Amino acid sequence: MSNLNDPIALTPQTRATLSRDFAWGVATSAYQIEGAAAADGRGPSIWDTFSHAPGKTVRGETGDVACDHYHRMPEDVALMADLGVDAYRFSISWSRVQPLGHGAWNEAGLAFYDRLVDTLLARGIRPSATLYHWDLPQGLQDLGGWASRDTALRFADYSAHVARRLGDRLATISTHNEPWCTAKLGHAWGKFAPGFRDEALAADVSHHLLLSHGLALQAMRAAGTRAPLGIVLNHSSASAATDSAADQARAATEYASFVRWYMEPIFEGAYPQDEGIEHHPRNVQPGDFAIIGQPLDFLGINYYTRIWASTAQPPVPAPCALGVTDMGWEIYPEGLTELLTGIHQRYAGLPPIYLMENGMANADVLVDGRVADAPRIDYMRRHLEAIARAREAGVDIRGFFYWSLLDNYEWDSGYDKRFGLVHVDYATQRRTLKDSALWYRETIANLRGGAGHG
Ligand code: FCB
Repeated sequence: MSNLNDPIALTPQTRATLSRDFAWGVATSAYQIEGAAAADGRGPSIWDTFSHAPGKTVRGETGDVACDHYHRMPEDVALMADLGVDAYRFSISWSRVQPLGHGAWNEAGLAFYDRLVDTLLARGIRPSATLYHWDLPQGLQDLGGWASRDTALRFADYSAHVARRLGDRLATISTHNEPWCTAKLGHAWGKFAPGFRDEALAADVSHHLLLSHGLALQAMRAAGTRAPLGIVLNHSSASAATDSAADQARAATEYASFVRWYMEPIFEGAYPQDEGIEHHPRNVQPGDFAIIGQPLDFLGINYYTRIWASTAQPPVPAPCALGVTDMGWEIYPEGLTELLTGIHQRYAGLPPIYLMENGMANADVLVDGRVADAPRIDYMRRHLEAIARAREAGVDIRGFFYWSLLDNYEWDSGYDKRFGLVHVDYATQRRTLKDSALWYRETIANLRGGAGHG
């Protein structure tokens, strides 16, 4: 398929910049792909409860079956080997390995992740695990969930247990995926599980999430884990719609509550105190910031789009010069360079960075065994160029994980949105490499061959 590559190749400069010390990966998460919701002793998570409640997801769709990855794991790892990726980012379903989130462990669940890790390693793919990708055991939600400080302690126990079991073979371990989403979408906006609408509660939850992250790092290190440890934050650049003071202030506040809210407790020991931020955690105890500020071995960042801040009524729309994705998200690759160089300048001594998620939903169609998803190839190419610009500006970024390997269960959007490099026919579970997968395979192979090839 070299014709795929010609009109859309990375520039020679980008190839040179990304040809060394750079990991090429793909990402997924447990609830979005595994299915097998009740298999082998798995307990329910808040996403099982939420997705089964009426009116919460598109067409009432759930992750009960998803991509049936739990039963098709070897086939899916073979797909990754075929793509030639260096690394795979997946998440561990807490309620699969500890059905209630406290108490007894489920050996069958742990054994699944054992097999996954060993299958990856046998194929030369580095396993990057995330401990929490939004699927709290329902048994802990019943005891208060992330509103309860005790959940942070339970998370530390779970983390240490998994690290003892798998830590010798994992390339990285991330505590949380996108704590902003857990806090805001789950506890303030009612969009994600557990579905609460309480801004003050969301601020408290954000603090317990960060506390749990710090406690987990301490517990895993105490357990002798050698794998590099980090966290994955969803970040954006923020643009003011106009030069007006009001729009500028709105952009600054949104950046503070999205990016700085998580960076500053971790790297500077305090939450931003900007005037525009209405809710501050009521649950901070003495010593918490010392726990939250445990040193990180790496920082994971997810980037999809920018924040566009307009105070006008109706709001000034974002320019969307490159269009929007099927999620309605503006395609804005420059924001990734801006974000990365911005945090690099603002926070001294950041650890190495991995882009742990980036990708687009596209209205893909399978025709005669082919998915011609040129917009996705364009999106990937532009974001890789954006990463290269940041690397050239001194940002220590070490890898890119495309979201996602497979079309999968996109939370409240159900199966409506397709992010995969690999098309999934949900009726048959048949997997088909999209054009973007072939492009990614060729790009990785060319860069491995040396910057001058391609
Ligand atoms: C991120 C999530 C991931 C997926 C993508 C599209 O916010 O981490 O699970 O839903 O968005």
